[in-house]
Amino acid sequence: MTIFYFTATGNCLTVAKRIGGRLMSIPHLIHAPNLNFFEDDIIGVVFPIYAFSPPQMVQDFLKKVNWKAEYSFAIATYGNSDQFTLQQFQKEMESNGKHFHYLKTLLMVENYLPSFAMEDEIKKIPKKHIEENLEKILDDIDQRVETAPKTISFADKIRSFFSKRKVTYRLNRGQAKSFQVNSQCVKCLICEKVCPTANIQVKEHVEFGNNCESCFACLHLCPHNAIHLKNEKSSKRWIHPEVKLGEIVAANNQIH
Ligand SMILES: Cc1cc2nc3c(=O)[nH]c(=O)nc-3n(C[C@H](O)[C@H](O)[C@H](O)COP(=O)(O)O)c2cc1C
Repeated sequence: MTIFYFTATGNCLTVAKRIGGRLMSIPHLIHAPNLNFFEDDIIGVVFPIYAFSPPQMVQDFLKKVNWKAEYSFAIATYGNSDQFTLQQFQKEMESNGKHFHYLKTLLMVENYLPSFAMEDEIKKIPKKHIEENLEKILDDIDQRVETAPKTISFADKIRSFFSKRKVTYRLNRGQAKSFQVNSQCVKCLICEKVCPTANIQVKEHVEFGNNCESCFACLHLCPHNAIHLKNEKSSKRWIHPEVKLGEIVAANNQIH
């Protein structure tokens, strides 16, 4: 089994690790000079939902990659609302010649700092039944369960369009320019290393470029909690407890 994954704060990496097999980081693969053809009995993709879509890098990867598998799946983790994400995703993938046998979303911990306070999100963990839902997904994949194609009504399409526009509006490639680095920064370079788009350079100061994926890995994973948003709901940060910082560095580091 091969799993392609994208993660900022470890939710997706935890899911990928629990499913098992050969784990391949999308931020590494997308920058490979030649994206190979992959063949395995099972091929899966695990990614977070950003504004009701996969992160841009995951979308770009899925357009480029080719594979052959007897069974394929996509798991999208999210923190609050997954409305119609899979329906849209499935439609886009099919038009791109990719069919997934099994598509599921998994409610995990919300990490979108402009709208949510991490203290509150962490308190919600028991109510989300993450473990039971993940176990069910593991069983399904084990038994090669196939999900029925999703349909989307016209009314849902309209609702999805407007809610997507609202969130997409806040996601832009230059948004890291507004991140504020405080005096707690010791230039440890972790922010550079967890950035999946190599958008951060630590020189005299921490410098952000114009290619931000909006994943917030740099904010969440700074060991000194030195990077902040002007409009963040709280300064508390999240890394999934089953994942070590070094694993996210290994997954996302573009500085060799
Ligand atoms: C930029 C951004 C946009 C997000 N948009 C959504 C969303 O539309 N719906 C939702 O439920 N969660 C959303 N989230 C939360 C993540 O999907 C969720 O926390 C995910 O499990 C994080 O996975 P990771 O820990 O592997 O990075 C968003 C998070 C970020 C950073």
